[in-house]
Amino acid sequence: MTIAPVQSSPSLGSSGWTDTRLILALEEVVEKELNRHLGVAKEWMPHEFVPWSQGRDFDGVLGGEAWNVEQSQVTPLGRVSLVVNLLTEDNLPSYHHEIATMFGREGAWGTWVHRWTAEEGRHGIAIRDFLLATRAVDPVELERARMSHMSEGFESDNSHSMLHSVAYVAFQELATRISHRNTGKYAGDPLCDQLLAKIANDENLHMVFYRNLLKAALEIAPDQAMRAIADVVTNFRMPGHGIPGFERAAAQIAIGGVYNLRIHHDDVLQPVLRHLRVMEFDGLGPEGLVAQNELGVFLDGLDSQARKFEERQAALLARREARRNAG
Ligand SMILES: [Fe+2]
Ligand SMILES: [Fe+2]
Repeated sequence: MTIAPVQSSPSLGSSGWTDTRLILALEEVVEKELNRHLGVAKEWMPHEFVPWSQGRDFDGVLGGEAWNVEQSQVTPLGRVSLVVNLLTEDNLPSYHHEIATMFGREGAWGTWVHRWTAEEGRHGIAIRDFLLATRAVDPVELERARMSHMSEGFESDNSHSMLHSVAYVAFQELATRISHRNTGKYAGDPLCDQLLAKIANDENLHMVFYRNLLKAALEIAPDQAMRAIADVVTNFRMPGHGIPGFERAAAQIAIGGVYNLRIHHDDVLQPVLRHLRVMEFDGLGPEGLVAQNELGVFLDGLDSQARKFEERQAALLARREARRNAG
């Protein structure tokens, strides 16, 4: 995604909720949401979505056939997007470290942290197996990108505050849901679409968990939660922003309609903000009102940026279409 990061000015307000107190205060909500999650999450098997019969040896140790771009029906946009999504999933050890450090490994929080990690682990396994069995992407390039990306690690922009972390994951889980879903739509392979729909469904349940937690935080510490939401929304970056060649990939993903400013505004930010009634939220003190106002100004600006993006996108696609017709 091509949203430029803005300087953050996180302020936790003066109402005195420390992270430790908030984590304790939210434990009951975490337990309730964890049980709800476990009740609705359905087991699924990643191996069932991989067409193993299409798989064959690669060159190298086994002396099989080298990878070639012609070997798969996946579209060029699908390839770029699948790699970004997979590498994003691959950095799970860093994400686990971040949330285990922030939320702890005890009680309901700990059970959630481990369960979430196990579910996310399935995503990377499933996508990698699919890409290798179907020869959708260059396996050498993929492995080198994974090594480079994971060697950098991932450090959240929000690790300074638990409310910022909760607000970030609420939006980020929905962003990954939409990104997987749209990748499936444009991948040109019905089985890939089915697999990504399954993964997107998991991401949606993760979003619901964090969104409901954020709702409870807004009730407990409204000013601080509003500040966290404003900071996170105005500084949002996708978790895969450190991937080698991310900017170029993000531009292709944006033009192709998998993830762009319009989608970010309409399908990621607005649904969460509307559900939590963030812009209508009353009962805020002066600090909360300042944050809410900042958020409103930012969203208006983002909407007009998204409109400009759509104009550029339409013009570019029209030029491409004209070139195709001429050629
Ligand atoms: Fe995931
Ligand atoms: Fe997720």
